Amino acid sequence: MTRHFYVTTPIYYVNAKPHLGHAYTTIVADVASRFQFMRGKETFLLTGTDEHGDKVVRAAKAENMSPRAYVDQISGLYKDLWPQLNIEISHFIRTTDPAHMAVVEEILQKIYDAGDIYFSEYEGMYCFGCERFYTDRELVGGNCPDHETAPEIIKESNYFFRMSHYQDWLTDHIKRHPDFIRPKRYENEVLSFLKEPLEDLCISRPKKRLNWGITLPFDQNYITYVWFDALLNYISALGYPHAELFTKFWPSAQHVIAKDILKPHGIYWPIILKAAGIPLFKHLNVHGYWNINQSKMSKSLKNVVEPLKLKNIYGLDAFRFFLVRDMVFGLDSDFSESALVQRINADLANDLGNLFSRVLAMVHKYFGGIVPQIDAAVEAEFAFSLKQDALDAVEEFEKTMEAFSFHKGMAATWEFVNKMNKYIDIAAPWVLAKNKSSHKQLQVVIYNLLEGLRVIAGLIYPAMPDTAFTMQRHLGAHPDKNSFAIDRLKQWGATAPGTKLPKTIVLFPRIDPKNQPSEPVSESQAPPAPAMKPAKDDNGFALATLNKTTKPGTPLS
Ligand code: ME8
Repeated sequence: MTRHFYVTTPIYYVNAKPHLGHAYTTIVADVASRFQFMRGKETFLLTGTDEHGDKVVRAAKAENMSPRAYVDQISGLYKDLWPQLNIEISHFIRTTDPAHMAVVEEILQKIYDAGDIYFSEYEGMYCFGCERFYTDRELVGGNCPDHETAPEIIKESNYFFRMSHYQDWLTDHIKRHPDFIRPKRYENEVLSFLKEPLEDLCISRPKKRLNWGITLPFDQNYITYVWFDALLNYISALGYPHAELFTKFWPSAQHVIAKDILKPHGIYWPIILKAAGIPLFKHLNVHGYWNINQSKMSKSLKNVVEPLKLKNIYGLDAFRFFLVRDMVFGLDSDFSESALVQRINADLANDLGNLFSRVLAMVHKYFGGIVPQIDAAVEAEFAFSLKQDALDAVEEFEKTMEAFSFHKGMAATWEFVNKMNKYIDIAAPWVLAKNKSSHKQLQVVIYNLLEGLRVIAGLIYPAMPDTAFTMQRHLGAHPDKNSFAIDRLKQWGATAPGTKLPKTIVLFPRIDPKNQPSEPVSESQAPPAPAMKPAKDDNGFALATLNKTTKPGTPLS
């Protein structure tokens, strides 16, 4: 098993502010990275901004700003957002960074010298929104499938990358590495695309048309096509070719994207790497869209939901959990505030929150808040299958999270939460407490429940780090992510008897669904929700809970 884990998000265009879709991809990368940390790996999470090209020039013009001032401003919004969503970034890259630009020039020159870039005249249908040429086959009713606008015919001399040379090699690579693009449906999509002849990629734009980009090292009259520039961020950020980071992390690279950019990542990117003599990434993980009433949430449709508004109303961990639990990775999901409230009430307040409060209340009631001793002879009789259930849950969690099936990882965790609740019902500690002769049995039951909660705190750590730490403290341990290591979760009995536990708290208050709107609110309709301070528990720690001063149902955007 490799000891490193390198995960990337797309670098986002700076032509508009970040929304829920961008937050989802970046949270998923954070969840994957925290999970790999639990498996003992050294992790590196890369995100950043894509700052060159037509789109950005046009957005800057619309704001009456120079491209430089404009990209600095919007890139800052992205950079500032991630820590507020508790996403632990290792590096934030901008394609205007001089070190990145130098790598792009180096790779272009290398591929040019190898003979895979040539100069030619081309006439084609160009979508300015996508910044690419379209073939007839790709258009829908004569329009760009993403922007639903007619492309313009453009004729000009440009540099082309000989992708066609690599078509058979790529098809073969994908077939020989069944997890290279996952889930399967996206592998099939790329393979079906590769059944048709692959056209060479136009990788330049004449400066007379567009001057905001990286100049081609072999022709000063042209700049580099924005996708050729952008994809290389994944290696330039690690200090390609000689830096230690590159040697250490590149062999473990995994990308996370949504299906909108499958073609550049599933076809252009592996071919660029191959042509430049660089080993390929390990996995391309592709998710679906967050939709609003069946339409893709996007800045151009003005139906975006702002992540910080949701965080402020419902609490960060509830928001993160909802995204990870509700979207089946790979498929589209319809976002609605009522679905979010349902999840919070059912999974967080009822199942997990209730279990946590019930167990801790019993430790305080029956043992004065002290973790009880256990008697080995009684243990065998009264632990039932809880220890095995915990182990099964950890193993299922590990398997599914590794495969980027985060919703399944959460489902496995909740299956165990439910088993814990059933264990309480069957063991009936309140009956055991009535009789002095069953004191040892009561000790075993409560101790096992505390152990189960310790395992659950670990399993929720990737999606809800703050809540995991809060649980950990209330179980008598110091907040420490190292003790969420999978190996430690598999060892039953780590909670020390005799530990004094702090006063109990409510992890997730229930939300009154009567206050809920049935539809999410779009950017164009809603007044802003008030900003709030995060809730604190009685020891001053931030709680991942609903802020009670905010009425659920406050419009989000
Ligand atoms: O494409 N649902 O940038 P971009 C889910 N700069 N995810 C969504 C989403 C939605 N409704 N909307 C956006 C670019 N995303 C290029 C990438 S990479 C070398 C260059 C997320 O700002 C999702 O991750 O348009 C999607 O792939 C990405 O934002 C597109 O971001």
